[in-house]
Amino acid sequence: MARIAYVNGRYQPFADAQVHIEDRGYQLADGVYEVVAVHQGRPLDVGPHLERLKRSLSEVAIAWPLTPTALRLILDRMIRKNRLVNGLIYIQITRGVARRDHAFPKRRIKPALTITARHLAPTPDWVVAKGVRVITQPDLRWKRCDIKAVGLLPNVLAKQAARAQGAFEAWLVDENGRITEGASTNAWIVTKNGTIVTRPLGPEILAGVTRRAVRAFLAKSQGKLVERPFTLAEALQAKEAFLTSATSWVLPVVSIDGHPIGNGQPGPVALGLRAQYAKEVAQSR
Ligand code: PDD
Repeated sequence: MARIAYVNGRYQPFADAQVHIEDRGYQLADGVYEVVAVHQGRPLDVGPHLERLKRSLSEVAIAWPLTPTALRLILDRMIRKNRLVNGLIYIQITRGVARRDHAFPKRRIKPALTITARHLAPTPDWVVAKGVRVITQPDLRWKRCDIKAVGLLPNVLAKQAARAQGAFEAWLVDENGRITEGASTNAWIVTKNGTIVTRPLGPEILAGVTRRAVRAFLAKSQGKLVERPFTLAEALQAKEAFLTSATSWVLPVVSIDGHPIGNGQPGPVALGLRAQYAKEVAQSR
């Protein structure tokens, strides 16, 4: 089965799919994106992902290239055409194609929309049972991390540093020694008294769709959640730590910079939240 990509209104064989050399996304990282997880042939949390996409577009003054309803239809079609069962859909919208100039083109140009789909096996049980290791890196990103922009060089370098040290993720630390989030995930800890802590929404972090889901079921179950910044020192003293993202769901973190968190094993809070997330995914069918 050949992979199919969507490029500006056309479904094309993945291997032939191309964009223009002067696409502003390519030359200036002038674009935004979304990653939607697909589970058992269904996209997860499409509504919140499209809502966030709309916000990102509006914050950088790029017009919707088509209606959200049309985009939803294309996502379903991409899942079918690619026979995707478990994996992800990547949606990218750039300002479009124009002669290179930092300022917006004077002439109205059409935003460029590209979509790819790819298989990704669900996180194996043994990974969840073992938990993942993270390292820390200075947060070198811009001051609008709430926009899901395609300019990801600091995230790329941080993730690569993690990979080089055999870690799953890099947690980014701001100038005040406080953790903002991971290179491509949100960061959470559970304090000694059982309070779940994650950084509040703001320009320093992405408003994760998975974060939002976890927050919602913590509110329902009256789990103790406090949204406030936390330091690396506090994270190292935590009882548990975990991360969230569309493709990772909820993953226990068992060490930071080589220091075990809690007893160095995945904790009950992280595992419980993961189980609850999986249940909600199953129930939303
Ligand atoms: N990353 N923080 C950052 C910087 C991210 O890039 C992401 C998502 C998240 C988690 O958000 P969500 O729960 O909506 O996936 C937090 C995606 C998966 C990516 O760039 O591949």
